[in-house]
Amino acid sequence: MEVRVKSITWEAPGIHTYELVPLRPEPLPPFTAGAHIDVILPGGVARQYSLHNPPRERHRYLVSVLHLPAGRGGSDALHRNTKAGDILAISEPRNHFELIEGAARYVLVAGGIGVTPLIAMVARLAELQADHVLHYCCRSRDSAAFSAALEPLVADGRVVFHEDGGVPGNGLNVMRLFSECAQGTQVYCCGPAGLMSAVRTATSHWPAGTVHFESFSAPALSAPPPGVAGEVEFEVELASTGRVIPVPHHQTMLEALRAHGVDLDSSCEAGTCGTCMTRYCEGEPDHQDYILGAEEQQEFLMVCVSRSKSRRIKLDL
Ligand code: FES
Repeated sequence: MEVRVKSITWEAPGIHTYELVPLRPEPLPPFTAGAHIDVILPGGVARQYSLHNPPRERHRYLVSVLHLPAGRGGSDALHRNTKAGDILAISEPRNHFELIEGAARYVLVAGGIGVTPLIAMVARLAELQADHVLHYCCRSRDSAAFSAALEPLVADGRVVFHEDGGVPGNGLNVMRLFSECAQGTQVYCCGPAGLMSAVRTATSHWPAGTVHFESFSAPALSAPPPGVAGEVEFEVELASTGRVIPVPHHQTMLEALRAHGVDLDSSCEAGTCGTCMTRYCEGEPDHQDYILGAEEQQEFLMVCVSRSKSRRIKLDL
Protein backbone atom coordinates (compact mmCIF):
# COMPACT_ATOMS: atom_id res chain seq x y z
CA MET A 1 0.00 0.00 0.00
CA GLU A 2 1.01 3.62 -0.32
CA VAL A 3 1.50 6.04 2.54
CA ARG A 4 2.61 9.64 2.79
CA VAL A 5 5.64 10.73 4.77
CA LYS A 6 3.97 13.28 7.03
CA SER A 7 7.07 14.27 8.95
CA ILE A 8 10.71 13.39 9.45
CA THR A 9 12.18 14.19 12.84
CA TRP A 10 15.66 13.99 14.26
CA GLU A 11 15.68 11.31 16.95
CA ALA A 12 19.36 11.04 17.86
CA PRO A 13 22.67 11.41 16.02
CA GLY A 14 22.25 9.52 12.71
CA ILE A 15 18.68 8.45 13.50
CA HIS A 16 15.54 9.87 11.87
CA THR A 17 11.95 9.03 12.68
CA TYR A 18 9.51 8.82 9.75
CA GLU A 19 5.82 9.38 10.39
CA LEU A 20 3.80 7.56 7.72
CA VAL A 21 0.11 8.33 7.29
CA PRO A 22 -2.58 6.89 4.99
CA LEU A 23 -3.43 8.62 1.71
CA ARG A 24 -7.15 8.21 2.37
CA PRO A 25 -9.18 8.80 5.55
CA GLU A 26 -9.44 5.06 6.32
CA PRO A 27 -7.31 3.83 9.22
CA LEU A 28 -4.14 1.89 8.57
CA PRO A 29 -4.12 -1.90 9.12
CA PRO A 30 -3.69 -2.75 12.80
CA PHE A 31 -0.44 -4.04 14.22
CA THR A 32 0.79 -5.59 17.42
CA ALA A 33 3.86 -4.73 19.49
CA GLY A 34 7.01 -6.09 17.84
CA ALA A 35 5.64 -5.79 14.28
CA HIS A 36 7.54 -4.41 11.31
CA ILE A 37 6.72 -3.18 7.83
CA ASP A 38 8.63 -3.50 4.58
CA VAL A 39 9.45 -0.16 3.00
CA ILE A 40 9.86 -0.52 -0.76
CA LEU A 41 12.75 1.56 -1.99
CA PRO A 42 13.54 2.75 -5.52
CA GLY A 43 14.39 -0.30 -7.63
CA GLY A 44 11.86 -2.42 -5.75
CA VAL A 45 14.21 -3.39 -2.91
CA ALA A 46 12.43 -3.92 0.42
CA ARG A 47 13.84 -3.08 3.83
CA GLN A 48 12.23 -3.98 7.14
CA TYR A 49 11.68 -1.43 9.89
CA SER A 50 9.99 -2.01 13.24
CA LEU A 51 6.93 0.03 14.15
CA HIS A 52 7.38 1.83 17.42
CA ASN A 53 4.27 3.89 17.97
CA PRO A 54 1.70 2.55 20.45
CA PRO A 55 -0.03 -0.41 18.73
CA ARG A 56 -3.50 1.02 19.35
CA GLU A 57 -2.77 3.88 16.91
CA ARG A 58 -4.36 3.46 13.48
CA HIS A 59 -3.74 6.91 12.02
CA ARG A 60 0.01 6.53 11.51
CA TYR A 61 3.04 4.28 11.58
CA LEU A 62 6.32 5.44 13.10
CA VAL A 63 9.64 3.93 12.03
CA SER A 64 13.11 5.07 13.04
CA VAL A 65 16.08 4.48 10.80
CA LEU A 66 19.77 4.63 11.64
CA HIS A 67 21.82 6.00 8.76
CA LEU A 68 24.41 3.43 7.69
CA PRO A 69 26.28 4.99 4.74
CA ALA A 70 28.20 1.72 4.20
CA GLY A 71 25.12 -0.47 4.62
CA ARG A 72 22.97 -2.11 1.98
CA GLY A 73 21.49 1.17 0.76
CA GLY A 74 18.14 1.23 2.54
CA SER A 75 18.97 3.75 5.24
CA ASP A 76 20.91 5.86 2.74
CA ALA A 77 17.91 6.05 0.41
CA LEU A 78 15.65 7.14 3.25
CA HIS A 79 18.05 9.60 4.87
CA ARG A 80 19.27 11.23 1.67
CA ASN A 81 16.38 10.99 -0.77
CA THR A 82 13.17 10.97 1.23
CA LYS A 83 11.42 14.14 2.33
CA ALA A 84 8.17 15.08 4.01
CA GLY A 85 5.28 14.80 1.55
CA ASP A 86 6.81 11.90 -0.41
CA ILE A 87 4.71 8.82 -1.13
CA LEU A 88 6.24 5.50 -0.10
CA ALA A 89 5.12 1.96 -0.85
CA ILE A 90 5.04 -0.27 2.21
CA SER A 91 3.76 -3.71 3.13
CA GLU A 92 1.12 -4.41 5.73
CA PRO A 93 2.59 -4.99 9.20
CA ARG A 94 3.93 -8.44 10.00
CA ASN A 95 5.07 -9.72 13.35
CA HIS A 96 7.70 -12.37 14.01
CA PHE A 97 8.56 -10.88 17.38
CA GLU A 98 5.14 -11.07 18.93
CA LEU A 99 4.64 -9.96 22.52
CA ILE A 100 3.04 -12.86 24.39
CA GLU A 101 0.55 -11.15 26.65
CA GLY A 102 -0.41 -12.44 30.08
CA ALA A 103 3.05 -13.33 31.42
CA ALA A 104 3.90 -12.58 35.07
CA ARG A 105 6.90 -10.42 34.12
CA TYR A 106 8.79 -9.14 31.08
CA VAL A 107 12.48 -8.37 30.70
CA LEU A 108 13.30 -6.43 27.53
CA VAL A 109 16.90 -5.99 26.41
CA ALA A 110 17.75 -3.48 23.69
CA GLY A 111 21.01 -2.50 22.06
CA GLY A 112 21.25 0.69 20.00
CA ILE A 113 18.59 1.14 17.33
CA GLY A 114 17.35 -2.37 18.23
CA VAL A 115 15.28 -0.55 20.83
CA THR A 116 12.57 0.31 18.26
CA PRO A 117 10.32 -2.79 18.52
CA LEU A 118 10.77 -2.74 22.29
CA ILE A 119 9.45 0.83 22.49
CA ALA A 120 6.10 -0.44 21.18
CA MET A 121 6.26 -3.25 23.72
CA VAL A 122 6.89 -0.81 26.57
CA ALA A 123 3.79 1.15 25.51
CA ARG A 124 1.67 -1.98 25.32
CA LEU A 125 2.93 -3.40 28.63
CA ALA A 126 2.22 -0.09 30.36
CA GLU A 127 -1.31 -0.21 28.95
CA LEU A 128 -1.70 -3.75 30.30
CA GLN A 129 -0.17 -2.65 33.62
CA ALA A 130 2.17 -5.62 33.28
CA ASP A 131 5.33 -5.95 35.34
CA HIS A 132 8.22 -5.10 32.99
CA VAL A 133 11.66 -3.57 32.70
CA LEU A 134 13.61 -2.39 29.67
CA HIS A 135 17.40 -2.67 29.85
CA TYR A 136 18.67 -0.26 27.23
CA CYS A 137 22.34 -0.73 26.22
CA CYS A 138 23.85 2.32 24.57
CA ARG A 139 27.08 4.21 24.22
CA SER A 140 25.60 7.18 26.07
CA ARG A 141 22.15 8.51 26.79
CA ASP A 142 22.89 11.54 24.62
CA SER A 143 23.36 9.35 21.57
CA ALA A 144 20.51 6.96 22.31
CA ALA A 145 17.21 7.19 20.43
CA PHE A 146 14.13 7.84 22.57
CA SER A 147 16.23 8.56 25.66
CA ALA A 148 14.22 11.70 26.49
CA ALA A 149 10.91 9.86 26.15
CA LEU A 150 12.17 6.97 28.30
CA GLU A 151 13.79 9.13 30.98
CA PRO A 152 10.59 9.52 33.08
CA LEU A 153 10.39 5.72 33.35
CA VAL A 154 13.81 5.44 34.97
CA ALA A 155 12.65 6.61 38.39
CA ASP A 156 10.10 3.79 38.80
CA GLY A 157 12.51 1.14 37.50
CA ARG A 158 10.72 0.52 34.19
CA VAL A 159 13.81 1.57 32.20
CA VAL A 160 17.47 1.05 33.07
CA PHE A 161 20.09 2.66 30.83
CA HIS A 162 23.43 0.85 30.51
CA GLU A 163 25.92 3.34 29.09
CA ASP A 164 29.16 1.63 28.06
CA GLY A 165 31.02 4.55 26.45
CA GLY A 166 31.69 2.35 23.42
CA VAL A 167 33.20 -0.54 25.40
CA PRO A 168 30.64 -3.39 25.54
CA GLY A 169 32.38 -4.94 28.57
CA ASN A 170 31.44 -1.85 30.59
CA GLY A 171 27.73 -2.25 29.90
CA LEU A 172 25.00 -4.61 31.01
CA ASN A 173 26.16 -7.84 32.65
CA VAL A 174 23.75 -10.24 30.95
CA MET A 175 25.17 -13.33 32.68
CA ARG A 176 24.23 -11.84 36.03
CA LEU A 177 20.87 -10.55 34.80
CA PHE A 178 19.76 -13.97 33.55
CA SER A 179 21.58 -16.22 36.02
CA GLU A 180 18.30 -17.06 37.72
CA CYS A 181 15.47 -18.23 35.55
CA ALA A 182 12.46 -16.44 37.00
CA GLN A 183 9.23 -18.40 36.73
CA GLY A 184 6.70 -16.85 34.33
CA THR A 185 9.12 -14.31 32.83
CA GLN A 186 9.29 -13.61 29.09
CA VAL A 187 12.49 -12.12 27.62
CA TYR A 188 12.64 -10.04 24.43
CA CYS A 189 15.96 -8.96 22.97
CA CYS A 190 16.80 -6.89 19.92
CA GLY A 191 20.20 -5.42 19.18
CA PRO A 192 23.58 -6.07 17.62
CA ALA A 193 24.73 -9.65 17.07
CA GLY A 194 27.16 -9.51 20.02
CA LEU A 195 24.47 -8.53 22.50
CA MET A 196 22.01 -11.12 21.19
CA SER A 197 24.64 -13.83 21.32
CA ALA A 198 25.47 -12.90 24.93
CA VAL A 199 21.78 -13.01 25.90
CA ARG A 200 21.35 -16.32 24.06
CA THR A 201 24.23 -17.82 26.06
CA ALA A 202 23.08 -16.33 29.37
CA THR A 203 19.54 -17.69 28.92
CA SER A 204 20.51 -21.11 27.58
CA HIS A 205 19.09 -22.71 30.75
CA TRP A 206 15.74 -20.92 30.40
CA PRO A 207 12.72 -22.97 29.22
CA ALA A 208 11.94 -23.08 25.48
CA GLY A 209 9.56 -20.35 24.36
CA THR A 210 10.51 -17.83 27.05
CA VAL A 211 13.33 -15.97 25.25
CA HIS A 212 12.70 -14.16 21.95
CA PHE A 213 15.08 -12.42 19.57
CA GLU A 214 14.85 -10.10 16.63
CA SER A 215 17.76 -8.99 14.53
CA PHE A 216 17.52 -5.40 13.36
CA SER A 217 19.99 -5.75 10.52
CA ALA A 218 21.02 -8.29 7.96
CA PRO A 219 24.68 -9.26 7.62
CA ALA A 220 26.99 -6.58 6.27
CA LEU A 221 27.69 -6.45 2.56
CA SER A 222 31.15 -7.84 3.10
CA ALA A 223 29.70 -11.07 4.51
CA PRO A 224 29.08 -14.00 2.14
CA PRO A 225 25.72 -13.69 0.37
CA PRO A 226 23.04 -15.06 2.70
CA GLY A 227 21.97 -18.61 1.92
CA VAL A 228 25.01 -19.34 -0.23
CA ALA A 229 27.34 -21.49 1.84
CA GLY A 230 30.54 -22.41 0.07
CA GLU A 231 30.70 -25.79 -1.56
CA VAL A 232 27.59 -27.35 -0.07
CA GLU A 233 25.16 -28.68 -2.66
CA PHE A 234 21.97 -30.47 -1.81
CA GLU A 235 18.52 -31.36 -3.15
CA VAL A 236 15.07 -30.12 -2.32
CA GLU A 237 12.12 -32.48 -2.63
CA LEU A 238 8.62 -31.06 -3.01
CA ALA A 239 6.29 -33.06 -0.76
CA SER A 240 3.22 -32.54 -2.98
CA THR A 241 4.70 -34.04 -6.16
CA GLY A 242 7.92 -35.80 -5.16
CA ARG A 243 9.80 -33.59 -7.60
CA VAL A 244 13.49 -33.16 -6.76
CA ILE A 245 15.31 -29.89 -7.45
CA PRO A 246 19.08 -29.58 -7.08
CA VAL A 247 20.47 -26.56 -5.18
CA PRO A 248 23.97 -25.82 -6.48
CA HIS A 249 26.51 -24.13 -4.23
CA HIS A 250 26.14 -20.76 -5.94
CA GLN A 251 22.35 -20.52 -5.53
CA THR A 252 20.07 -20.09 -2.56
CA MET A 253 17.23 -22.55 -2.07
CA LEU A 254 14.84 -19.77 -3.08
CA GLU A 255 16.74 -19.07 -6.30
CA ALA A 256 16.90 -22.75 -7.21
CA LEU A 257 13.18 -23.24 -6.59
CA ARG A 258 12.32 -20.19 -8.67
CA ALA A 259 14.63 -21.30 -11.46
CA HIS A 260 12.53 -24.47 -11.66
CA GLY A 261 9.23 -22.58 -11.76
CA VAL A 262 8.29 -22.83 -8.09
CA ASP A 263 6.94 -19.41 -7.22
CA LEU A 264 7.46 -18.30 -3.63
CA ASP A 265 6.94 -14.98 -1.87
CA SER A 266 9.99 -13.24 -0.50
CA SER A 267 10.93 -9.82 0.74
CA CYS A 268 14.24 -9.21 2.52
CA GLU A 269 15.98 -12.34 1.12
CA ALA A 270 18.32 -12.01 4.07
CA GLY A 271 16.57 -14.07 6.74
CA THR A 272 15.18 -11.13 8.67
CA CYS A 273 11.52 -10.75 7.66
CA GLY A 274 9.89 -14.20 7.65
CA THR A 275 8.05 -13.83 4.33
CA CYS A 276 9.55 -17.00 2.85
CA MET A 277 9.01 -19.20 5.92
CA THR A 278 8.32 -22.76 4.77
CA ARG A 279 7.52 -25.97 6.62
CA TYR A 280 9.87 -28.92 6.09
CA CYS A 281 9.00 -32.57 6.55
CA GLU A 282 12.33 -34.40 6.35
CA GLY A 283 16.01 -33.56 6.40
CA GLU A 284 18.26 -31.43 8.58
CA PRO A 285 18.25 -27.72 7.72
CA ASP A 286 21.18 -25.42 8.26
CA HIS A 287 19.17 -22.46 9.55
CA GLN A 288 20.79 -19.13 8.88
CA ASP A 289 17.91 -16.79 9.57
CA TYR A 290 17.54 -14.20 12.32
CA ILE A 291 13.98 -14.99 13.31
CA LEU A 292 13.18 -18.57 14.23
CA GLY A 293 13.49 -19.78 17.80
CA ALA A 294 14.72 -23.29 18.64
CA GLU A 295 11.21 -24.72 18.73
CA GLU A 296 10.15 -23.17 15.41
CA GLN A 297 13.35 -24.42 13.80
CA GLN A 298 12.08 -27.96 14.33
CA GLU A 299 9.26 -27.25 11.88
CA PHE A 300 10.14 -24.32 9.64
CA LEU A 301 13.01 -22.80 7.67
CA MET A 302 13.54 -19.67 5.60
CA VAL A 303 14.20 -20.69 2.00
CA CYS A 304 16.03 -17.43 1.27
CA VAL A 305 18.95 -18.21 3.58
CA SER A 306 18.68 -21.77 4.92
CA ARG A 307 20.70 -24.59 3.46
CA SER A 308 20.70 -28.28 4.25
CA LYS A 309 23.06 -30.39 6.29
CA SER A 310 21.46 -33.54 4.88
CA ARG A 311 21.84 -34.52 1.22
CA ARG A 312 18.14 -33.89 0.65
CA ILE A 313 15.50 -31.83 2.41
CA LYS A 314 11.78 -32.29 1.86
CA LEU A 315 9.67 -29.13 1.89
CA ASP A 316 5.91 -28.97 2.46
CA LEU A 317 5.35 -27.45 -0.97
S1 FES B 1 12.49 -13.33 2.42
FE1 FES B 1 12.75 -12.44 4.38
S2 FES B 1 13.27 -14.14 5.60
FE2 FES B 1 13.23 -14.93 3.60
